[in-house]
Amino acid sequence: MRTARLRAWFRRAARDLPWRRTKHPYAIWVSEVMLQQTQVATVVPYYERWMKRFPTVRALARASLDEVLKVWEGLGYYARARNLHRAARGMRRWPRTAAEWRRVPGVGAYTAAAIASIAYGERAAVFDGNVRRVLSRLEGRDVAAPPPVPRGDPGEFNQALMELGQRICTPRAPRCGECPLAGESFEACVRREVEEETGFRVAVGPLLAVVPHRYSHFSVELHAYHCFWRGG
Ligand code: ADE
Repeated sequence: MRTARLRAWFRRAARDLPWRRTKHPYAIWVSEVMLQQTQVATVVPYYERWMKRFPTVRALARASLDEVLKVWEGLGYYARARNLHRAARGMRRWPRTAAEWRRVPGVGAYTAAAIASIAYGERAAVFDGNVRRVLSRLEGRDVAAPPPVPRGDPGEFNQALMELGQRICTPRAPRCGECPLAGESFEACVRREVEEETGFRVAVGPLLAVVPHRYSHFSVELHAYHCFWRGG
């Protein structure tokens, strides 16, 4: 994968979300739990209210469950709020690794990897349906397990993949024309491929046909161009 391009796109296009201005484990933990089953736009005002009311894990631990549920009200899946509260009361020191985060109530594999990578820079891979879709489309095959997280800031890489899946590589009607990882143009691809395979240099003319083709696990569109011989 063209990791550098993905990161560059993320730095340019990333939404300025309140939990992206910190790497504190408490803030990252709260945001990742809120983001379970809930869209980013919905989470933002709840996150801001929560952090005002419970700015530290100690403030959260001191609060009553009623107060906590009141601030959570409207976000749904209330087990998340109960687990945050229970975990805050039991927290003695911050977990660091994804394996340690997994032991915190309400933190599953995805959330543990997200927190450990963002707050502590662990190279832990996030993998869910969205990431699977993005990686599978990029690879042109079903990617059933996460590849190793590349070196560099793993939290940035993971969030870039999530963001690409939410904004560009959407389940339906993906915006391939805006994808930072899309190839070269079709025309440039034809020129390069023809020369690589045959040694002919060609000018690419009109598009003749687009032919859908299904494999067992995915489908492709074949684009056929009329080309003009220019040498070789
Ligand atoms: N979904 C889950 N975690 C997220 C994050 N950190 N940024 C954007 N979307 C997310």
